[in-house]
Formats: sequence, structure tokens, C-alpha cells
Amino acid sequence: MFAGNMHKAQLYSSANALQTRDAAAALSLYRDAMSWPDECDVLDVGCGSGDVTSQLLLPALKSYSSLTGVDVSQQMVKYAMSKYQQPNVTFRYLDIVAPDFRPRDLFPRGFHKVFSFYCLHWISDQKLAFSNLSELLLPGGELLVVFLASAPLFTIYERLAKDSTWSRYMKDVSKFVSPYQHVANPEDELKSHLLDSGLQVKDCKCILQHFSYPSAVALKSNYIIQ
Ligand SMILES: C[S@@+](CC[C@H](N)C(=O)[O-])C[C@H]1O[C@@H](n2cnc3c(N)ncnc32)[C@H](O)[C@@H]1O
Repeated sequence: MFAGNMHKAQLYSSANALQTRDAAAALSLYRDAMSWPDECDVLDVGCGSGDVTSQLLLPALKSYSSLTGVDVSQQMVKYAMSKYQQPNVTFRYLDIVAPDFRPRDLFPRGFHKVFSFYCLHWISDQKLAFSNLSELLLPGGELLVVFLASAPLFTIYERLAKDSTWSRYMKDVSKFVSPYQHVANPEDELKSHLLDSGLQVKDCKCILQHFSYPSAVALKSNYIIQ
């Protein structure tokens, strides 16, 4: 059995500087280019511990009527609810690619904005993910997603999975490697998923980023394999 620490809400919350930095950068780059109707229902997919949802996304919204964070981890949702639930801000369980998920049955009103930070690289069925995200959007709605196309971390996972000491613990390694890790032009592939799901693409960029961890402990907390 191989699992990242994405279900350990408190630990994640103390070690998410990389994710926070990149969500903040994307919000400051795109927020002003987005339209902000007075009534604005907002969804954050893969909200995790809720820190980014409540401390970055919420203050960045130029208008909102409701903000809903959803996550496939019950532990994350429970943590986010206990720490950040407030009037018009809610958290709930959702697997965005669950076979029985019918987006508009669960959210009949739909959303004016859908955000997702550092979540979609966990999802192998990208077509289904984007088709569900697209269905959740109201006409004229906007989607902003940030996730890893490829990363040295995924190479480490793949190497460990081939190592005789570790391979037996990592049989499900493919679930933890971005579906774009070995794709030559991730932007083109992502664009085609977006277009196929009926969305218009205003901008789609694959950016080379570096990140320095302040200590080996900080690195381990972010990437620990249990
Ligand atoms: C690295 S965390 C990011 C959390 C938060 N958005 C942030 O930027 O700090 C990724 C989150 O995506 C969630 N996730 C993974 N697959 C998902 C799915 N199919 N549906 C909903 N959430 C999912 C995980 O449970 C995890 O909490």
C-alpha cells in the first residue's frame, strides 16, 4: 500500500508552503482578468485542509455569495469544517471523478467560478474531471486550475516503485504520478481536454518553477511516503 500524506490534514496544513505560493501567484495573475458578477457562487475542488480556500482564495474573491470547498478525503473535509466553516463558506465530501457523480444532481444551481489548486494531477481520468468541472459551471462561468504537469517527486516515486526494497509497497504508484509527467506538450494535451469538455481557453501555460525547502524536515513533511 502506498499513500502520500494528503489525508493528514494537520500535517498538510503545516507543510503546504509550495502549494500556497503557487495558488497565490495564479490568483494575483488572473483575478483581475476574471468577471465578478454581484451574485457569485464559487467552488474550490480538492480544497484539502481548507487553508488555501479560506486564507487565499476567499480574500481574493472580488465578490462572492457562497464558497464551497470539496475534497475526496473525509479527514481533510472534517479538518476544514472545524477550522474554517463560516456563514456562506462550507466544505463537503466529493470525489470529482466518482463513477456515480452527476454534477448537476449534487449542485443544481451550478457555480459562477470553479477553482482547483494542486489537485488535478492526482486524477488519471482527465477527460472526466474536465467534463465534470465544465458541467458545474454556469454559462459565462470561469475555471482557474493550477496543478503539476511533471515534477522530480514523481520521478522519485517511479524509481522507488522499481526498486526491489520498495516495489511491494508501491504497486499503485501510477495513481500518484501526474498524468502529464511523460507528455511532451502538456499544454496541448490540457487544452484539448478543456476544448473537448466545451470550455473556451483564455490562457493555458506550463511554467517551470523552483522551490527551496527551508530544511530536510520541511521537505519530508510535504512529501512523506508512509
Ligand atoms: C495537495 S492537496 C491541495 C489542497 C489545497 N487545494 C491546497 O492548494 O493546499 C490535493 C487535494 O486534492 C484532493 N483530491 C485528490 N483527488 C480528488 C478527487 N478525485 N476529488 C476531489 N478531491 C481530490 C486530495 O484529497 C487533497 O486534499
